[in-house]
Amino acid sequence: MNIDDIIDQLGGAAAVQTLLGVGPSAVSNYRLRGAFPEYARVRIWQALKARGIHVNPETLADLDTPPTASGQPASALSHAVGMPQKTPQILLIISGGIAAYKALELIRRMKDQGWAVRVILTKGGAQFITPLSVSALSGDKTYTDLFSLTDEAEMGHIRLARDADLVVIAPASANMMARISHGMADDLASTAVLATGAPILIAPAMNPFMWANPATQANTAILKSRGISFVGPDSGDMACGEDGAGRLADPMAIIAAAERMLPGQGKLQGKQVLVTSGPTHEPIDGVRYIANRSSGKQGHAIAAALAREGAKVTLVSGPVTEPPPPSVQVVAVTTAQDMLDASLAALPADIAICAAAVADWAVDGAGASKLKKTDGAPPELQFRENPDILATISTHQQRPKLVVGFAAETDDVIAYAKAKRARKGCDWILANDVGQDQPVFGADENEVHLITASGASHWPRMSKHDVAKYLTDAIIKEITHG
Ligand code: C5P
Repeated sequence: MNIDDIIDQLGGAAAVQTLLGVGPSAVSNYRLRGAFPEYARVRIWQALKARGIHVNPETLADLDTPPTASGQPASALSHAVGMPQKTPQILLIISGGIAAYKALELIRRMKDQGWAVRVILTKGGAQFITPLSVSALSGDKTYTDLFSLTDEAEMGHIRLARDADLVVIAPASANMMARISHGMADDLASTAVLATGAPILIAPAMNPFMWANPATQANTAILKSRGISFVGPDSGDMACGEDGAGRLADPMAIIAAAERMLPGQGKLQGKQVLVTSGPTHEPIDGVRYIANRSSGKQGHAIAAALAREGAKVTLVSGPVTEPPPPSVQVVAVTTAQDMLDASLAALPADIAICAAAVADWAVDGAGASKLKKTDGAPPELQFRENPDILATISTHQQRPKLVVGFAAETDDVIAYAKAKRARKGCDWILANDVGQDQPVFGADENEVHLITASGASHWPRMSKHDVAKYLTDAIIKEITHG
């Protein structure tokens, strides 16, 4: 939907002026620019949603919900008939900081969604808002104390964690993020986070210097690597008088992010996905092996991002130290042959993503006994070619609808990746430049080109988690729009 269509759908320019509290010239400027300002998107998304029109809250791109027989978009209808049947249970953790007062608005919005909201208010959070005001909005007791006999009698802290479909930490202070990234469990909030099996969404809010501090950034990276999602922080004027990134995300943006993470709400619900990740180890003898430097970070991040959208993901992983992503079935393998067998066992699948750095060769005749160092010449190893998992899946009888491979090239990245796409028979290739000054193996960032049948697009250097998110968005677009 373009900007003119959106304005029409919202009732014309005057209605948009009222909605956003701006004058006529502002709306003309938006039309000229072809985009709304960032702050306005959530309000527009909300207003469109109220009219049964579903768009991506970040881009306002049309989600093209297929119309039903009644002419109503399917998701609007499912809302009307009260789907999903189970009321989502949200555990909201409010930690310290001036933004805590905005959590009250967030509780109201969550209740508007029809969600059940249970709140843990930390000691820091209670400096800014009271348990009474929280309870008045949540309609439930506010939980504050790990060692309260009354709290434990009413709702044990483990049940508090386990009953949740989603844990939202908003605002999340730098201290809260530091504590949960290191697995502390010294108060009710951190204990609940450690004990929950539910997906976790963090909305940080803090002074811009605290957010930019390498310690906070490192904690953010740790939390993201464990599959925890983030929304915000936004940039702008801060209550502390400074300007920069650190503002709590708009409550409606938090709602939008939370909605996508609720079970049964993801856009890849019901889709079966195979992801390969990490290196393979090819034995030389009973104690030695040939390996490569793949960390599995990219493949694991992709598996986590797809699972967050509700896909049923089988992650076939070579030996890595990356933690298993939440809600993903991990099959641990060692050799390329094991990886092929496990990958074929995961078919049929709707989507396959081969991100593993599979060894090209295996050592022929590798046995269980250790090769002995003798006075003579070193042993001569004979190699045989390993099976190509990506090519095998691409030509398989049960070929998934979308098959994605990776390419690591040092020169002429796009030309080689295009050739690889044709040679392997896959649909897309994510190609990265592994030239001398482009660290990829083991790094937290990646710069890739997506090669499809219709050409190549360049994604600037970003975290591997963001690459995973972009790839997931591209897959959703491909799968749902055909
Ligand atoms: O041929 P090359 O190793 O450059 O191809 C890389 C792509 O092929 C990656 O997606 C990788 O996961 C996949 N591959 C595979 N099996 C192999 C070799 C590579 O699936 N034996």
